[in-house]
Amino acid sequence: MTAPLIDPFQRAISYLRVSVTDRCDFRCVYCMSENMTFLPKKELLTLEELDRMCSTFVRLGVEKLRITGGEPLVRRNIMHFFHGMKRHLDSGDLKELTLTTNGSQLARFSQDLYAAGVRRVNVSLDTLDETKFADITRWGRLPQVLKGIDAAQAAGLRIKINVVALKGFNEDELFDIVEWCKSRDMDLTFIEVMPMGDIGNEDRLDQYWKLSDLRRTLAEEYTLTELTERTGGPARYVRLEETGQKIGFITPLTHNFCESCNRVRLTCTGELYMCLGQEDMADLRAPLRNTPNDDAPLEAAIREAITRKPKGHDFDYSRQTVDGRMSRHMSHTGG
Ligand code: GTP
Ligand code: 5AD
Ligand code: SF4
Repeated sequence: MTAPLIDPFQRAISYLRVSVTDRCDFRCVYCMSENMTFLPKKELLTLEELDRMCSTFVRLGVEKLRITGGEPLVRRNIMHFFHGMKRHLDSGDLKELTLTTNGSQLARFSQDLYAAGVRRVNVSLDTLDETKFADITRWGRLPQVLKGIDAAQAAGLRIKINVVALKGFNEDELFDIVEWCKSRDMDLTFIEVMPMGDIGNEDRLDQYWKLSDLRRTLAEEYTLTELTERTGGPARYVRLEETGQKIGFITPLTHNFCESCNRVRLTCTGELYMCLGQEDMADLRAPLRNTPNDDAPLEAAIREAITRKPKGHDFDYSRQTVDGRMSRHMSHTGG
């Protein structure tokens, strides 16, 4: 038996998030600046290297694999990689293979994703208003995403909608979004906006809508019951008694969840970030490439990296300043 990955705070690492590309077909204003420079293609891990990397993590005890980006479905031939990962589901070593997507390509790929063993997809969608959607994503079009969601549900995929809570932007749509998710039998999670990357003339404090406030507004219409159930991610869930819906809250700012962190994140160039909110990382590409026929150096590099996993992020807006800001964009590590 291989020893599991345990960090210095006794947290077992069972969840790997893999960003397979830093590119995206949208330019969400809170995530990217208008003119982003992307990595040259030769810097990227090949699909075969991604497979070897993920398989090594699975061997070391990772049970949940989430594919992210950028937009993961714009990576060329990415379905080949998903189909490869299916063998770890079939063997029982991997419990979940899933992805977080902007939904733009779901009409094309949903059936294939289902065939590869994906059962649940998280779709990022912050507004149901076409004009606002075009504004916030700059390049995105709402009808295309809605068609993607239709296709995903028709293919049998369960959908969770991720909404970044943005003051002055989607506050007025809170109940519409909740009701829309109910009507389509989709789960829903709200996320507090985090200070990731320079995004131009931003003001994170102006955007910041505390989920404790959002919850209070929700409680004016619904009875909220706290749930103990977890999906292996950072969300904490409530049930709306009137509708039976499950709603998640990801609250890096108002309620830190780092003590139960179970995840690390791999970038498309093979850097391993041990925390979304810290700059430290480990290069896994060199040990991967240096010994193509021996995974031992890669395993050793992963174990060494885990000994450096920090206690948590330092994001903090409580002093009316943006503290703990990261230089890299969310698209670098995939959230
Ligand atoms: P589920 O399996 O559905 O629970 O997914 P998840 O919440 O783990 O994944 P998803 O990609 O939907 O995550 C939503 C967002 O939560 C991410 O894009 C991040 O913004 C945030 N998030 C996920 N993990 C972490 C984390 O470890 N720390 C912080 N600060 N935010 C995180
Ligand atoms: N803060 C919080 N969430 C963000 N996302 C992108 N940038 C940020 C940010 N600065 C979200 C996207 C998507 C997920 C990958 O991360 O909306 O749901
Ligand atoms: Fe874990 Fe870092 Fe996320 Fe906190 S911010 S939950 S320590 S990855």
